[in-house]
Amino acid sequence: MNMLDNRLILVVGATGGVGQLTVAKLLAKGYQVRVLSRSETKTKQLFDDRVEVCIGDIKDINSLTQAMDSVTDVICSVGTTAFPSSKWELNLSNPWDSMMGYLNPKQLGKKAKNSPLQIDAEGVINLVKSCKNIQLERFVLVSSCGVLRPNQFPYSILNLFGVLYAKKQGEDYLINSGIPYTIIRPSRLIDGPFTSYDLNTLLQAKTDGEQKVVIATGDKINGQSSRIDVANACVECLSSEQTKNKAFEIINQGERKDTLDWNKLWELL
Ligand SMILES: NC(=O)c1ccc[n+]([C@@H]2O[C@H](COP(=O)([O-])OP(=O)(O)OC[C@H]3O[C@@H](n4cnc5c(N)ncnc54)[C@H](OP(=O)(O)O)[C@@H]3O)[C@@H](O)[C@H]2O)c1
Repeated sequence: MNMLDNRLILVVGATGGVGQLTVAKLLAKGYQVRVLSRSETKTKQLFDDRVEVCIGDIKDINSLTQAMDSVTDVICSVGTTAFPSSKWELNLSNPWDSMMGYLNPKQLGKKAKNSPLQIDAEGVINLVKSCKNIQLERFVLVSSCGVLRPNQFPYSILNLFGVLYAKKQGEDYLINSGIPYTIIRPSRLIDGPFTSYDLNTLLQAKTDGEQKVVIATGDKINGQSSRIDVANACVECLSSEQTKNKAFEIINQGERKDTLDWNKLWELL
């Protein structure tokens, strides 16, 4: 029997940039894949019938129960924009709320429906809570560089509306849950698909996955991270004991000369 036959991976955020690539890589490796998505149409368009689909929203814990049935691993790459955008589903029809929101940016997320506070903090916490009664092999969470230094430039800018605080809340809840975890912290994401509205997306720097992968711990490195390599890391760490209960940063830097050896990278953790 193939070792992967009994692993059923739930991908949350599968319609996003990293998520799409993660699903593709999982399927290529022979894993069974289920995705949790808010949109059946979007999911069908992307993956046809190659994955099982559960409709749910991480803000609603009751919508997550069915997706967890028989799952062995969860990969979560959900996210929203760091700065207010249509993805936040803000209703600023009340001008007073709007003004107060902008005077106190970190409060603005509370007025939204899908801001980092609701997704990266409360949503991730909901997801972890719904896994508590199942025996998970691994919960992989895509977080962000800067969570341990939100007041340092340039993270202080990224964190103007509190995204790094929200990500840290999600991380901490997972770490303290007792579920075996791996936290992957990319820097500015590059390499398509480009789905977010931030500066780096507009600049659209491209490595095509050709730069060397650098991983580190302690949140000290800066750079840019290929979505392709972040997705690969999400999948590769599932079969590595060395990545269990670890958090690490991942960036791309320098020329990639040799074939990527993930096991060698994991030795650095
Ligand atoms: N962009 C950067 O430079 C950067 C830097 C560091 C870390 N990160 C993090 O890296 C991860 C992947 O980034 P990305 O750019 O690939 O993400 P993305 O393309 O923005 O995708 C986000 C995903 O989250 C899903 N989602 C949003 N709200 C949801 C909700 N309420 N319930 C269920 N799913 C929801 C979206 O689903 P829909 O299709 O339904 O909207 C989508 O699948 C994110 O955690 C992001 O914060 C990004």
